[in-house]
Amino acid sequence: MSNLVIVGTQWGDEGKGKIVDLLAEYSDFVVRFQGGNNAGHTMVVDGEQFISHLVPSGILQKKVCIIGNGMVVDPGVLLDEIDYLKGKGVQIDPKVLLISQKAHVIMPYHKALDAAREGCGKSKKIGTTGRGIGPCYEDKAARRGIRFIDLLDEDFESNVRAIAEEKNFYLSKFHELDTIDVDELINTYKSYRDRLAPHITDISVVLDQAVRSGNRILFEGAQGTHLDIDHGTYPYVTSSNTISGNACCGTGIGPKRIDHIIGIVKAYTTRVGEGPFPTELFDATGDFLQEKGAEFGATTGRRRRCGWIDIVMLRNAVRLNSLTGLALTKLDVLGGLDEIKICTSYRYRGETIEHFPVSLNVLAECEPVFETIAGWKEDISGIRHVEDLPENTRRYLRTIETLTETPVDLISVGPGRNETIFMNHPFQ
Ligand code: GDP
Ligand code: IMO
Ligand code: MG
Repeated sequence: MSNLVIVGTQWGDEGKGKIVDLLAEYSDFVVRFQGGNNAGHTMVVDGEQFISHLVPSGILQKKVCIIGNGMVVDPGVLLDEIDYLKGKGVQIDPKVLLISQKAHVIMPYHKALDAAREGCGKSKKIGTTGRGIGPCYEDKAARRGIRFIDLLDEDFESNVRAIAEEKNFYLSKFHELDTIDVDELINTYKSYRDRLAPHITDISVVLDQAVRSGNRILFEGAQGTHLDIDHGTYPYVTSSNTISGNACCGTGIGPKRIDHIIGIVKAYTTRVGEGPFPTELFDATGDFLQEKGAEFGATTGRRRRCGWIDIVMLRNAVRLNSLTGLALTKLDVLGGLDEIKICTSYRYRGETIEHFPVSLNVLAECEPVFETIAGWKEDISGIRHVEDLPENTRRYLRTIETLTETPVDLISVGPGRNETIFMNHPFQ
């Protein structure tokens, strides 16, 4: 097994950062293939916490980290993140951090439009992270985007002027907001370009050469399957494809190169922002999960909504991503509950629904059908072997494996690297 994709199976924040950092030890390259600084990936090493929004979570393992063409990148945020990581003693130079020439650049007008739309009350509020992600992907699809290679182009200034003029029209006329100072924008982005230029390269060529010379690649997903622009709870989604198929499009590598796909599953479910959530809890158990799991967004600090694990969602994720295995995270958080519920199907107007519905109206009316199992009181965070877990914890694991028809490859019982139990080690 050499090339591995890691994706979130729920609505993001499943613990991808921890698992990517952990498994990066066995890889040579770590590449992000979509999203931008809407992501917040947390790594904890020797008790010290690192949060990355753009730099792939292989950076602490000293692997070559690549920002794929499928990403949208705010260069100011990237430079701040590079400085933050360097400040913590992490080595970052153009040999270890590469940026695709084809990745799109988030501009100030993207952020202004994102904030304006969310705040104006004229259209549906999505609860975005406000980082300009949607407007940047819109421009990519509309062929009005600026890519990293365009930053280096001699037409950069005239291109940006033409596009910014249109954006200023929307900002001032539709949203009655201040316009962007285009001269200032151009000067700022030229200074970003000067610092980032040595990192910009053709990553498809780099990855192809890497594979040909026997290197291992880890593809790091951001967000989660149910935030996917096509397959998620549209319109309450992000603006990119978050599922494993996009690991290829978002990096310039073909599907035959992928060997293994691990879906990260939080032992319960969380969601930040608006949108339906069938197993959401509004009671003391929801508060327990939120507090014990410290469920606050790593990007915006917003309180995450919490609920029980949802097998209908997970089966959707298994199918959409071709998952070969699961990584079950935050299992320690469930310790102390008398009983634990597992949503096995939905009830909709007297019928049983097994497949995650596409219509949000249907989804909103779906009642979760639960299987209840006994909880465990023990603190499992110190356990390193599956056979040492309490019997009820093992029953929970077996039930998830059976219902999803997918093996749990590893279990996470704490934020640190060592707080992990391997059941099927993907690299051994
Ligand atoms: P990501 O976006 O999927 O990378 O996840 P986030 O970093 O946004 O959120 C996951 C949070 O849970 C972070 O604070 C992690 O440090 C923490 N975490 C990860 N795995 C575990 C675990 O097994 N147990 C506990 N208690 N915390 C965990
Ligand atoms: P990671 O990678 C959780 C959510 C936002 C909002 C919706 C659209 O850390 O798991 P956007 O700013 O992307 O246009 O917002 O998607 N969202 C996330 N939720 N984790 C994330 O990333 C998210 N990235 C975006 O809260 O509901
Ligand atoms: Mg996160």
